[in-house]
Amino acid sequence: MAERILIEGGVPLRGEVFVSGAKNAALPLMAATLLAPGETVITNVPRLRDVQTMRTLLEHLGASCRGDGVLSIDTEKVNGWDAPYDLVKTMRASILVLGPLVSRFGRARVSQPGGCAIGARPINRHIAGLEAMGAKVFLEHGYVVAQADRLRGAEIVFEAPTVTGTENLLMAAVLAEGETVLLNAAREPEVVDLAAMLRAMGAKISGEGTDEIRIEGVSSLTPVAYEVMPDRIEAGTYLAAVGICGGDIVIRDCVPGHLRAVISRLEKAGIRMEAGEDWIRAVSGERTRAVDVMTDPYPGFPTDMQAQFMALMTLSEGLSTVTETIFEGRFMHVPELCRMGADITLSERKAVIRGVAALYGAPLMATDLRASASLVLAGLGATRGVTEISRVYHLDRGYDGLDGKLSRLGARIWRAEG
Ligand code: EPZ
Repeated sequence: MAERILIEGGVPLRGEVFVSGAKNAALPLMAATLLAPGETVITNVPRLRDVQTMRTLLEHLGASCRGDGVLSIDTEKVNGWDAPYDLVKTMRASILVLGPLVSRFGRARVSQPGGCAIGARPINRHIAGLEAMGAKVFLEHGYVVAQADRLRGAEIVFEAPTVTGTENLLMAAVLAEGETVLLNAAREPEVVDLAAMLRAMGAKISGEGTDEIRIEGVSSLTPVAYEVMPDRIEAGTYLAAVGICGGDIVIRDCVPGHLRAVISRLEKAGIRMEAGEDWIRAVSGERTRAVDVMTDPYPGFPTDMQAQFMALMTLSEGLSTVTETIFEGRFMHVPELCRMGADITLSERKAVIRGVAALYGAPLMATDLRASASLVLAGLGATRGVTEISRVYHLDRGYDGLDGKLSRLGARIWRAEG
């Protein structure tokens, strides 16, 4: 039976919470194991549905996987290059095997990821980059088919930053002939984490974390042990939670430097924060203030925090605007928040939110990963009645036990079957 999450809001959060490994780092790191035959050991792997899906995909290709938090992936016997629709359709990030498969086998057949709840999400920039490196790429029956005897280094200019596009081409370039330059590359910390593991495997990479990444192809890579970076979006979600229901928490095992844009907006909203090497303390008691936000590629305000920030704004004093510049459909949480009494007006890519004094608990339906996090946060702030969220599998795709961690911080939140 489908699981639901129930929340009785209005309880201030207290205590400390430990952040898990980043979903959006773990997935490319898992795909990168295809580049080096043998056993790679990845640690601090979050327990997520998406990680399970990537594991199933790698096993379909012939890899053998063991463990979960500590995940060992042996790709010695990988002998397939076909990522089937029934796997890819549940997780767009499956496209991350495209670059490694072409790199290792000179061919790949990956189901074209369909759109999803937040937008069309094309992969034209991934394909254009592979073609620039000498691959022949064509689409047939909903599959991307790529072939290349050996990829050649090239200068690739992205028309606009793409996170998995940068990661795919990084993985295509590390074993290519000669030098590849990625211009207008994504600067996300997860890209930096992937580059660090590839370098540990023997790749020659410089410039990751900037918009210009240079890769000198090498003839082979060797498997390593590598630790997944902390999930900055999970950490940001707890910061927004304190703003919504008040309290005093310490978030541990995080990287405050990955959250500068989020911290600056939340401080402006009135949440008091202090940070150390790998922890952030957040305190909030009074009602937060309305603050405008516009999403932008890193180091700007992350689109993956937009829905959670909007949940906070529904209860903040005043009028705020939230502008989503990355995905055309990332407002699926708005109608659900309005059913709780939020006052939100939507135009094209901009939401105008007038803070209300209280939200009401209501039966809600999750539609995508970050929208479901937004509904959980709104439920924490709903002081009138119980919030009940269905289709929580969306949440479990990208959060490692969010409800359990919030419950340990004092929230009245629990799961129910059926
Ligand atoms: C990654 O998706 C993340 N997923 C997303 O996280 C995140 O929201 C997104 O980056 C933006 O930060 C993973 O890392 C697994 P993009 P990705 O390519 O790589 C357009 C989550 O909630 N575009 O950077 O798919 C695209 O349509 C998920 O954890 C093209 O037009 O995002 C979008 O408008 C959701 N053509 C924009 O670029 C392309 O070839 C940015 O997309 C590629 C992208």
